Amino acid sequence: MLEQALAFAASNQEHALEELKAFLRIPSISTLPEHAADVRRAAEFLAAELERIGMDNVRVIDTTGHPLVYADSLHAPGKPTVLCYGHYDVQPPDPLGEWTTPPFEPDVRNGNIYARGAVDDKGQLWMHVKALEALLKQGPLPVNVRVIAEGEEEVGGEAIAAHLREHPDSLEADVALVSDTDMFAPDLPTLCVGLRGMIYTEIEVRGARTDLHSGMYGGAAPNPFFALAQILTGLKDAEGRILIPGFLEKAEKPTDTELAAWQQLPFDENAYREHEVGSPALTGEPGYSVLERLWSRPTLEVHGMPGGFTGAGAKTVIPAKATAKVSMRLVPGITPQDAFTMLRDAVAALSPASVTSEVRLIHSGDPVVVSTDNPFVASATEAMRQVFHRDTVFVRGGGSIPIVGDFQRNLGIPTLLMGFGLPDDNLHAPNEKFHLANFYRGIESLIRFFVLAGEA
Ligand code: BES
Ligand code: MN
Ligand code: MN
Repeated sequence: MLEQALAFAASNQEHALEELKAFLRIPSISTLPEHAADVRRAAEFLAAELERIGMDNVRVIDTTGHPLVYADSLHAPGKPTVLCYGHYDVQPPDPLGEWTTPPFEPDVRNGNIYARGAVDDKGQLWMHVKALEALLKQGPLPVNVRVIAEGEEEVGGEAIAAHLREHPDSLEADVALVSDTDMFAPDLPTLCVGLRGMIYTEIEVRGARTDLHSGMYGGAAPNPFFALAQILTGLKDAEGRILIPGFLEKAEKPTDTELAAWQQLPFDENAYREHEVGSPALTGEPGYSVLERLWSRPTLEVHGMPGGFTGAGAKTVIPAKATAKVSMRLVPGITPQDAFTMLRDAVAALSPASVTSEVRLIHSGDPVVVSTDNPFVASATEAMRQVFHRDTVFVRGGGSIPIVGDFQRNLGIPTLLMGFGLPDDNLHAPNEKFHLANFYRGIESLIRFFVLAGEA
């Protein structure tokens, strides 16, 4: 059954690619209300394919937000159940001018497919579908499989979290399988064992009752942008240390074994700075390696500062209010609830008397470290060894996938974060791509994983 499934996948690569292109043409941008119908169209596209390949109980589940897609195939009594997860929503594609080819017109060049969502996460979700298809062609699956896909991962994943809380039995499984992370380096099979959590907030500072003439009132009326700047620089020092009292003390350290393993990873700080980041210097907390700063330390970032006058030309105004979109990445030891309370109190304490301030929570998710103490890890590493002929490295990811924490907490199951992206795939950025060799090797790895998990 394994050999036939692999042969099917190998001889159907062209089909898989054409289908992926059609999936990528749907601009399922979850954060933009004007694209809600496209998000649903992507859900229906996925559901139709799950139906076509022979999954059972295929459903598009309506929620208060974007729909979920569910399917299962539970015909392997006594075998484990794998819960495949992915997201079919994507980030907005702007700035459009930076794309070599348009974001929703997938283009194949130099061995990559370029499109918004190519690797995050439509391409990786499609690997799951194609692996299941190849196996279903041969008969019943070697393990029980449930598929759950969401259309709002990129905006916090509220609907799937509610669904999990309300219907945990419908997602009952032994392990979750997620392909939404990257490999540490090309050709280096990677399992991600930790993700940072986050709180995403908006800080609003108000000064005068209304906008004021900056000559008539400048010198006496408070400027909320200056107050906001003071607040922000009071939250993090010039070297990158978060100054919120008591905050950093809560961050748990990775074990010595984990830290030692990170030191063995092939990482060249200067090449990373020059080729991946492209800035004159890196920043961050003194006393921690780059990988520690990315994977096991919290952050505080400003994403944008809406407000005031931003048009062409000049307008002499003291704005009445200023806002900042501020997020914090969290690591084990710091819950989103704690982080939000501490941030809110710190902003209040830092606000000058001339203004009022408010911190609003937009979304949040828990940090996770997944346990590797289960037989599925061995099946996954063996599957990838057969494809890449290398031992798997264990890393953490700096990003967040909010539902993974809920899989652990609400379903009590571990998650395998088995991703096939590359560090330079431009997630959330212009010219997002997926290396096609990894798309096909991912499908093969997943086929082998399902078979090995059924034998374990
Ligand atoms: N797939 C990413 C997360 C990721 C990427 C984890 C690479 C590890 C390595 C996911 O789609 C993502 O971008 N998540 C958001 C979540 C947020 C909006 C709640 C993130 O991390 O910003
Ligand atoms: Mn993703
Ligand atoms: Mn993403």
